[in-house]
Amino acid sequence: MSNKMWGGRFATGPDAIMEEINASIGFDQRLFRQDIAGSIAHATMLAETGILTQDDRQTIIAGLTEVLAEIESGSFTFSRALEDIHMNVESRLREKIGDAAGRLHTARSRNDQVATDFKLYVRDTIDTLVAQIAALQLALVTRAEDEAETIMPGFTHLQNAQPVTFGHHLLAYVEMLGRDAGRLLDARKRLNESPLGSAALAGTPYPIDRNLTAEKLGFDRPTANSLDAVSDRDFILETLAAASICAMHLSRFAEEMVIWSSAQFGFIKLSDKFTTGSSIMPQKRNPDAAELVRAKIGRIVGALTSLLMVMKGLPLAYSKDMQEDKEVAFDALDALSLSLAAMTGMVGDLTANREAMRASATAGFSTATDIADWLVRELDIPFRDAHHITGQIVALAEQKNCGLEGLTIEDFKSIDQRIDSRIHKVLTVEASVAARQSYGGTAPANVLTQAARWKSELTGQ
Ligand code: ARG
Repeated sequence: MSNKMWGGRFATGPDAIMEEINASIGFDQRLFRQDIAGSIAHATMLAETGILTQDDRQTIIAGLTEVLAEIESGSFTFSRALEDIHMNVESRLREKIGDAAGRLHTARSRNDQVATDFKLYVRDTIDTLVAQIAALQLALVTRAEDEAETIMPGFTHLQNAQPVTFGHHLLAYVEMLGRDAGRLLDARKRLNESPLGSAALAGTPYPIDRNLTAEKLGFDRPTANSLDAVSDRDFILETLAAASICAMHLSRFAEEMVIWSSAQFGFIKLSDKFTTGSSIMPQKRNPDAAELVRAKIGRIVGALTSLLMVMKGLPLAYSKDMQEDKEVAFDALDALSLSLAAMTGMVGDLTANREAMRASATAGFSTATDIADWLVRELDIPFRDAHHITGQIVALAEQKNCGLEGLTIEDFKSIDQRIDSRIHKVLTVEASVAARQSYGGTAPANVLTQAARWKSELTGQ
């Protein structure tokens, strides 16, 4: 039997393989809310402009509302023969209300319909992701306040560089996440134009009111070019690009959690809730959630590159290639959402091992720069010379197999006579971090100021 929706000129129905490659209902069924909202707005507009009778409008909207309830309750049966969510909904509407259902598709095509549905979905998802990012930021800020004075090694090249505070390190991610949210919201701004009413590609001869449907669906305005409207997938590409950058940040943080929770570092302990055991090694606590967050970027960037390849070289306007946008996008946005939730859980639950962090921060002569700075400040030695003298001090400590704090005043004087006992007070990691009060620096006082700023931004208080 030929297709009821478009099969007028067809003698037979599609081959089974045709049906299989063509159907998107397996994944686009999750657009049902957006699809029905779009249809209700469209029916309302058609009646307002006199294209549809008020009776038909009421029947259609009542029917669509029932279909929505059926899908929400799980009693709806999706049919692959009906290809996609748009035709599944319309076909069920026809079963319920009869011929009036056939009037709903006046002045509309699945091409503008799917662009509208998908934009609405991406918009909703951006809102969810932005809220999730804020929740992770708040968890980090709360931690940062507790750990404002906790000293850990700061690294460059993953070698001990200078001591920093754990709170400062956590707030670095709050900054990154703030930019991630900003990028998603930028994408939201640009996507918020309604394609509905662009019809198949050229617009429509019916006297429709695109401003009305745009407004009803919360769009800022209708799109200005019908060809662009039905063939634009920038909005999901841009969202995936922003999602990829966010996933990259989460992946870096996840990697740090993996390193920090190792026995060799022992900086943090992840909670039982976010670790797993080994089936053979009874002692194990594996940071699986962090490892998976570290890995999720693969599929998120994969979705971005996949869809860029799909769109590359596609002539205007709609081509069925574009149906390939949804599966990868859904998967990627789900993965980011799950990663954000997992990170929020881990941050809230982890225990910081302050002693281990401090001990590690003193290793590797991490306050050497403070000695050089002291020589500059107190003895007016040029920085380059101070750097050289400090290098000799480090070499001496290495030779004596002690830390910089273990050197006596005689040791210092053996390198340079001008040094006096005041040097001792800059050797501790506490003094080192406390001194770094330059704007954006790691000093505990700065951490508390920045945490307070973020807290009021995030909570609106
Ligand atoms: N399922 C299709 C998609 O996701 C809907 C649009 C189909 N349009 C068409 N002319 N076949 O892109």
